[in-house]
Amino acid sequence: MRNNPYLVALASLFALLQAPLTSHAADENKLEVFSWWTSGGEAAALDALFSVYKKQNAGAEIINATVTGGGGFAARSVLQTRLVGGSPPDTWQSHPGWELLGQYVEPGYCEPITDLYKSNGWDRAFPKELVVDLMTKDRQIYAVLAGIHRGNVLWYNTKLLEKNGIKVGDTITYDQFFAACDKLKAAGIPALGVGDSQVWASAELFENTLLGVVGPKGWTDLFSGAMQWDDPKVKEAIKLFGKMQDFVNPDHSALSWDQAMKALMEGKVAFSSMGDWADGEFLKANLKEKEDFGWVSHPGTAGSFIIVADGFTLAKGAPHKEAALAWLKSIGSKEAQEAFNRLKGSIPARTDVDRSKFDAYHQWSMDSFAKDKPVASCVHGEAAPAAFQQALNDAVTTFLVDKDIDHFANALVQAARQSPSAK
Ligand code: GAL
Repeated sequence: MRNNPYLVALASLFALLQAPLTSHAADENKLEVFSWWTSGGEAAALDALFSVYKKQNAGAEIINATVTGGGGFAARSVLQTRLVGGSPPDTWQSHPGWELLGQYVEPGYCEPITDLYKSNGWDRAFPKELVVDLMTKDRQIYAVLAGIHRGNVLWYNTKLLEKNGIKVGDTITYDQFFAACDKLKAAGIPALGVGDSQVWASAELFENTLLGVVGPKGWTDLFSGAMQWDDPKVKEAIKLFGKMQDFVNPDHSALSWDQAMKALMEGKVAFSSMGDWADGEFLKANLKEKEDFGWVSHPGTAGSFIIVADGFTLAKGAPHKEAALAWLKSIGSKEAQEAFNRLKGSIPARTDVDRSKFDAYHQWSMDSFAKDKPVASCVHGEAAPAAFQQALNDAVTTFLVDKDIDHFANALVQAARQSPSAK
């Protein structure tokens, strides 16, 4: 019977009919995820998201499209080219606020995912102010948050500080910080580790310092136009930022942000002011909280929480739409939020996760998020349009060379004039 020509022909016909179906089905299982998560901690956390997604979606296959470079500056231009060229990844990493709404939703690159919020009860699980204020346009929601980073954290090498007789309390003032810097300088140690081979890392140090001087109310006023960028307080912040440069590691411009964190771990520098993706690097290196590294709010910023949130989108014309929807659903699940954020340093965006699964740093950040004043990051694209974000980076680059406070402030005044926000 095996050689029956009729049956053989029927079998080949059947196989022929099956082939396109099978390969279509296999393709349906694919999903391209675009991000810039390539540092040790970032990659480990992304992997945790992938694992949960694969566990929840048997047979799923991921195309991990990453473009190296902290803060996503390199990634965003690659993404832009793909979006303009009509070949989007299924889903990509985006900060909420201006970046999401201005760069992706407004030009029509995203599909709304409002239905996912309804069908999964997310209306109650995620912080309303973030979803409504920073991810919604015309009553449609465009992203789901994987986690929320705190930008204004000053990290330190515990043993190095102890060795140099420096104690850091629950908060730190600029005077205390500079006293520690002087002490370390006298011992031949660059106090402040910066890795600004991409300038955003220095812009972040400035952003944190600015918040430390103007406070959360001043921050809101600056970005709403109620306070000007050449206000004496802004100039005071620029001055402090300039003073910090005396204590920065000499090789800062050759290092990436994560290499600067490594220098801190190795005791080559004592402090680093960096969003808590830095915590992901400590975790990856198996360092112990408090024993090996510690943290405090960047000077003057206790009581405020600079939000650097990471969301994922659904591309309009996504090549694998069903898989992309399953991915977004997975990111929003408790399981994924717990697995990812434990490794990333951020806190879950969902407010109903099991807190006991998180370490001391995360507990600290969750408490801060619950009680402190939230402000949106400019360096990470939330508080102002891309042009202003770029102008800030440029002003920082120039200032690092000319150290001209007025020049810095005036550049921002000019940029704000041309910006639909940040007036
Ligand atoms: C931020 C992003 C974080 C972290 C950081 C450094 O923009 O929100 O998740 O990856 O860049 O790359």
